[in-house]
Amino acid sequence: MQKKGLPQKRILEELEQRLAKDFTYESGRIIGSMCSNPHPLARKVYARYLEKNLGDVGLFPAVSELETETIQMIGSLLSNPNPSGHIITGGTEANILALWAAKKSGKKTNPEVILPASAHCSFDKAGDLLDIKTIRVGLDRNFQADIDAVKDAITPHTIALVGVAGSTGLGTVDPIESLSEVALDNDLYLHVDAAFGGFVLPFLKELGYEVSVFDFEAPGVSSMTVDPHKMGLAPIPAGGILFRNKKIRELISWNVSYLAGGEAKHASIVGTRSGASVVAVWSLLKHLGKNGYKQIVKRCMKLTCKLADEIQDIEGLEIMAKPTMNIVGLTSHTMDIKRVAEGLRSKGWAVALFPRHIRVVIMPYVQETHVNRFLEDLRSIAHEKGGRKEALS
Ligand SMILES: Cc1ncc(COP(=O)(O)O)c(C=O)c1O
Repeated sequence: MQKKGLPQKRILEELEQRLAKDFTYESGRIIGSMCSNPHPLARKVYARYLEKNLGDVGLFPAVSELETETIQMIGSLLSNPNPSGHIITGGTEANILALWAAKKSGKKTNPEVILPASAHCSFDKAGDLLDIKTIRVGLDRNFQADIDAVKDAITPHTIALVGVAGSTGLGTVDPIESLSEVALDNDLYLHVDAAFGGFVLPFLKELGYEVSVFDFEAPGVSSMTVDPHKMGLAPIPAGGILFRNKKIRELISWNVSYLAGGEAKHASIVGTRSGASVVAVWSLLKHLGKNGYKQIVKRCMKLTCKLADEIQDIEGLEIMAKPTMNIVGLTSHTMDIKRVAEGLRSKGWAVALFPRHIRVVIMPYVQETHVNRFLEDLRSIAHEKGGRKEALS
């Protein structure tokens, strides 16, 4: 670090120049991420209320009220107008908090949690942190949790089941109603990870898509992850943890006595936490309303279906499954999908690579022109590789 500080103008110029090599959302080149280009209103209010700290809630009771309202608004989209929860750093923290609450409520030795193979890696992180054994079970032919496999994996040490509503790889939704029945029958905690799907499925339902029960409507669901910084268009960090009721949240509440605003209870991993995130999410929910999000999801789905249809017309390429939400899994029986991903990357596309497929996410910032350009490049890569078996070698 240099001794004498530099003028602000110089810093801003240097940042402009050095950060130019990063991908931008506006370019449409980020076509494999679940993060949002934040809505302009969210940017504005986030910057205006940066200093708000919900770690010291006594100083910021007004933001705390906004947080309660935010959690209630999100809950009302998920069949529970009175949940208890927080806007936190992201889906990873939410999943850790859920397993922490499950461990506290389960009170078993050598605790175990059963997850579908498609569950996000944050559950493994949570398992390691909390000393909970994670048991992954197979999926059925629709890439959804196999209920029989879940039942078979239950042992006297099982404390929780996890279902995913919008899987990381393909956006699939597990049979949450059946998982709920199994959880209730066996007195287990059930967490639903709707980090991505939480801001998609309620609107798909309103748009007339067939959406199975995925939320608190299933009586066995104890908590849900729903991230505003994914399809909610909020700035990072904005994850969401919703517990069915206050009693569950209190299992992980910790008293912090020394705060300037007076004693407070924290039910998060972090202490100091962003109130600006809460203000941003609250503002977006109020501004966009259900209709606003519905229109966004409608547009994303239209482009997703176009992409999925056109991929199937490219020789050698296919989709893993009909898209459930705005995620397309692109695969091939004739080409090494890793090489296709490399080809796309070399043409400037930031795609996500999974063991058997490439994930394309049509986020709200992706335009039709971007999708057309992506398809053009995909066609040329498939043509180059011939779509033939030998390309696999
Ligand atoms: C289903 C699911 N859960 C949790 C997460 C983790 O979210 P974050 O990266 O915000 O911690 C992701 C990330 O993509 C996800 O897809």
